Amino acid sequence: MEFKTIIEPFRIKSVEPIRVSTAAERTGYLKDAFFNPFLLRSDKVLIDFLTDSGTSAMSSRQWAAMMDADESYAGARSWERFDAAVHSLTGMPHVLPTHQGRAAERILYGYLGGAGKYFLSNTHFDTTRANIEFSGASAIDLPCAEATDYASDHPFKGNIDTAALETQIKKLGAKNVAAVILTITNNSGGGQPVSMANAKKTSEICHKHGVMLVLDCCRIAENSWFVKHKEPGMEHLSYREIAQAMFGLADAAVMSAKKDALVNMGGFLAVRDKKLSDACTNLLIITEGFVTYGGLSGRDMEALAVGLEEVFEPDYLQYRIKSTAYLGERIREMGVPVIYPIGGHAVYVEAHVLYPHIPVDQYPGQALVCELYRLGGIRCVEVGSVMFGKYDEDGKLIPAAKELVRLAIPRRVYTQSHIDYVIEVFEKVLDHKEQTRGLKIIWEPPFLRHFTAHFAQNGG
Ligand code: F0G
Repeated sequence: MEFKTIIEPFRIKSVEPIRVSTAAERTGYLKDAFFNPFLLRSDKVLIDFLTDSGTSAMSSRQWAAMMDADESYAGARSWERFDAAVHSLTGMPHVLPTHQGRAAERILYGYLGGAGKYFLSNTHFDTTRANIEFSGASAIDLPCAEATDYASDHPFKGNIDTAALETQIKKLGAKNVAAVILTITNNSGGGQPVSMANAKKTSEICHKHGVMLVLDCCRIAENSWFVKHKEPGMEHLSYREIAQAMFGLADAAVMSAKKDALVNMGGFLAVRDKKLSDACTNLLIITEGFVTYGGLSGRDMEALAVGLEEVFEPDYLQYRIKSTAYLGERIREMGVPVIYPIGGHAVYVEAHVLYPHIPVDQYPGQALVCELYRLGGIRCVEVGSVMFGKYDEDGKLIPAAKELVRLAIPRRVYTQSHIDYVIEVFEKVLDHKEQTRGLKIIWEPPFLRHFTAHFAQNGG
């Protein structure tokens, strides 16, 4: 029997109140925050879709495990539980705990990188690229052709272009390619999944040329859902078996556990090679901590070990993916342009298509971010020219490729009625579409301006 209504496969045992504000109040809050929702206090936000990272609700089993944690400096039993959980999932013999994903990235890419080295990926996430470039190496994105074909409903738009990958390896010389990174799911590419066939082909190419393959696996459980349901021949495997098979193709993995390990803080680096593990362990000890805790406390490692099991539960994954798709499909039916098909953790709106009357140098994405907050108290993030735009020598904006807005959905936090509310807010966004104005930047810092820039409304 099939039902239309998606239900949360959990009961709520502990609640955190959210204060319901009015549109008039929010207009004031937005002005005080210089039209940049990053500068809003979170208690002024009704539905927080800024990120799915570190915002999960933990289960009673995770909290119980935390109480049972061992905080010993060395050889803690919490470390053993964590190590066993990561090892049995990834199959990698060496596991290094880090305080979050970017710490694992800094250790691995800092060690493998350096001037003259290249990293190739389906799409490097910002912190991945930043760590690679900081080491002096270069990061090249090789997304598949379908990734930018908005008319296509190709189920695996997160794939890497394997033909381009092999060409690049030959052109650059295999010894100069420090690693190939498959980001699963492809966050910066719209949260789109990567197929098993694509991961297999990538692994074959890497190993033929003696190049290391790394999985950035922070949303690998969500990716497994897509593989099981959209890739022929995969339906007989469990979600966990699919993830294990993908890890089996790789030489190393970095994980921000703040996503699919269902914890608020944590990460790890897992590698097969003992020599690489030894080198990375030295770097771990210098900045993160001793090998049996890295950047984590015992209770973090306990929560992570349980989270890595829970995330593969079929009822959870089904609800998670269906609920994200429900939001994306409903607003798409209403005429909101979204990246399609809908990915696992977020819905991406194409703000430049929604607001054709707002030129890119007036930041249509930021305009939508502000409208969603003003009309409904929803906080989300612009992924467009505010985040990635640069200036030319004359101070003219070189815009980003797309003006997107990401609605990233925290795991196990909001119910279907929250999602229905968000859909209603989009109706109001459409009603106000013609009157929505662009913004100008009135102050910005030299780096990562989207976090702190100040804006003013045009014509206001
Ligand atoms: N890799 C990917 C694919 C990510 O999405 C993130 C973080 C990281 C690495 C870095 O992990 O934050 O634990 O250091 N993504 C967050 C987001 C910030 O909102 O998408 P971290």
